[in-house]
Amino acid sequence: MNRLMSLGWFAVLTAITAPVVADLRDAEEAIEYRQSVYKAIKWHMDPMTAMVRGDIDYDAVRLTRHAQNVHALSEMLIEGFVPGSDLGAYQGVTGARSEIWERWEEFEEKMGALNEQSQALVIASTSGDMRGNIRPAFAALGQACKSCHDEFRQRR
Ligand code: HEC
Repeated sequence: MNRLMSLGWFAVLTAITAPVVADLRDAEEAIEYRQSVYKAIKWHMDPMTAMVRGDIDYDAVRLTRHAQNVHALSEMLIEGFVPGSDLGAYQGVTGARSEIWERWEEFEEKMGALNEQSQALVIASTSGDMRGNIRPAFAALGQACKSCHDEFRQRR
């Protein structure tokens, strides 16, 4: 009886502690994951910025490819925002404010805007109309980044 009882307690204890340890590791991995996706997005944004500014020549094929990659990457971000991975718990490691999880629907909407605006840029990219079409689409995409950063990101 005594032995059975201590076995019972052991099961209860591992059931409680095991997921906590797993969650901690998940949060750190999630932060690394989403920051990597943002870095990849930036990799594709930089040459588009240069093209829109006229620092490098307009190249429709290249512009379309970069816009498509931002669009694909935009769908990979949300799963990296696991609960408990905010800057309250990981100060200096992440720039994700706790408001993300307090206002999750608004955050999701802003992710949706990123997805839509990058798709709109894919469509605009082949038009050849820099001033009337591509530049406004790129500006709208940049605005989607900024409007989320203003609300939900703190610089590390
Ligand atoms: C829906 C919200 C949202 C949108 C849209 C968004 N970001 Fe962010 N971004 C964040 C948050 C939150 C972080 C902080 C992530 C962290 O540190 O864990 C971040 C971090 C970053 C980082 C830093 C990554 C690192 O190295 O730590 C870059 C670069 C970045 N974003 C670029 C962009 C660009 C470019 C766009 C638009 C094409 C964009 N973001 C759109 C919320 C957003």
